[in-house]
Amino acid sequence: QTGYITLDSGYKNTGATESAITFLDGEEGILRYRGYPIEQLAEKSSFIEVAYLLIYGKLPTQTELDFFANEIKIHTLVNEDMRKILDGFPSAAHPMGILSALVSSLTAFYPESLKSNQTKEEVDLSIIRLMAKLSTIAAWSYKNSMGHPVNYPKNKLDYCSNFLHMMFAYPTEEYEVNPVVVDALNKLLILHADHEQNCSTSTVRLVGSAHASLYSSVSAGISALWGPLHGGANQAVIEMLEAIKADGGDSKKYIEKAKDKNDPFRLMGFGHRVYKNFDPRATIIKKTADEVLTALGINDPILNIAMELEQAALTDPYFVERKLYPNVDFYSGIIYRAIGIPTEMFTVMFALGRLPGWIAQWKEMREAKEPIGRPRQVYTGETERDYSAINER
Ligand code: SDX
Repeated sequence: QTGYITLDSGYKNTGATESAITFLDGEEGILRYRGYPIEQLAEKSSFIEVAYLLIYGKLPTQTELDFFANEIKIHTLVNEDMRKILDGFPSAAHPMGILSALVSSLTAFYPESLKSNQTKEEVDLSIIRLMAKLSTIAAWSYKNSMGHPVNYPKNKLDYCSNFLHMMFAYPTEEYEVNPVVVDALNKLLILHADHEQNCSTSTVRLVGSAHASLYSSVSAGISALWGPLHGGANQAVIEMLEAIKADGGDSKKYIEKAKDKNDPFRLMGFGHRVYKNFDPRATIIKKTADEVLTALGINDPILNIAMELEQAALTDPYFVERKLYPNVDFYSGIIYRAIGIPTEMFTVMFALGRLPGWIAQWKEMREAKEPIGRPRQVYTGETERDYSAINER
């Protein structure tokens, strides 16, 4: 090897870029989007306004917000060619796989997104189109995986209400929008909107650094998010809580399993690469989960199991020494379940929320004209040796 290579597997101590989008302080449990604390944004803003803030770097005026929100509404409709591609998927296809494929195939419908030197106007248009279409494609992916007819978006509905309509309406039955559910969904999408250089965002930046289109970069990010150690954890948490409930609800037994080095079981929804304190998003989501379940009159036994697990982990030396706290995925699935989102759609919801963050990070990387990402390695293989004929092996 020429030169000096510093090995840092998992990039635990590597800063891959400079960014002005999101600030995280893992020790203090601080998260801010463009300087605004997420506690204020979750309480006072909307997902579409936060998307604007992340992508364009400032809170919009009423005129700017109306234009952005309206453009997203107009472009929410997906054209019939996309419908035909969707029909090609078997109903057994996982919604995340359909989402990644459909987002990537969007590039074919919008040639401007293929150009590596897009104008500002072209970038802004492809941003609005992707923000609009992902919610429709997400809902359609689910309907297709259930073998149900898709619902077309309704311009009179706001972004979250429209998504719920597309998910839950049937030809025989309108979806009745519940403000408690819409508010909870807005909060969840805001809290998932960006998180600096996490695995899927780093993937979007790396793919985009090769001058791949925004759409194919986001498609790669969706695939990275699917992993159970990353965005797939929200589905894994509910499956874990269900398994504990089915096994008699003994949370202490599962705390011991999680500590056992010979047991591959991990307490899903616990731990974080950056937060060595409470994940500030988990604090807000836990409070929202209580509010939503109360408002909807739902008594979900797995919420009690989740809180018992949390209490047990917060006092157990194994978790305390390793600073393992509940993360964003620990309580989010309980809300998604309460508002009727099926488990196999939880990570799709994460992708829907994270989309403006991916877009903002891709835009920032391209505007900074960052070079193509190409890390090195420490070689540990064979030294030079000669080829041998097959009859000599
Ligand atoms: C997200 O990066 C982001 O910002 C991600 C995210 C975002 O918004 O983009 O916040 C979203 O991905 C949240 C994380 C969701 N994943 C899970 O909940 C899966 C369960 N958590 C773990 O797999 C783990 O905590 C990670 C993946 C989140 C972090 O892994 P690290 O930083 O690589 O830490 P590690 O695996 O090296 O663990 C350190 C120690 C180990 O024990 P020792 O070898 O030191 O004895 O802690 C233990 C681990 O075994 N450990 C756990 C554990 N998490 C870590 N033990 C039991 N259960 C767990 N959940």
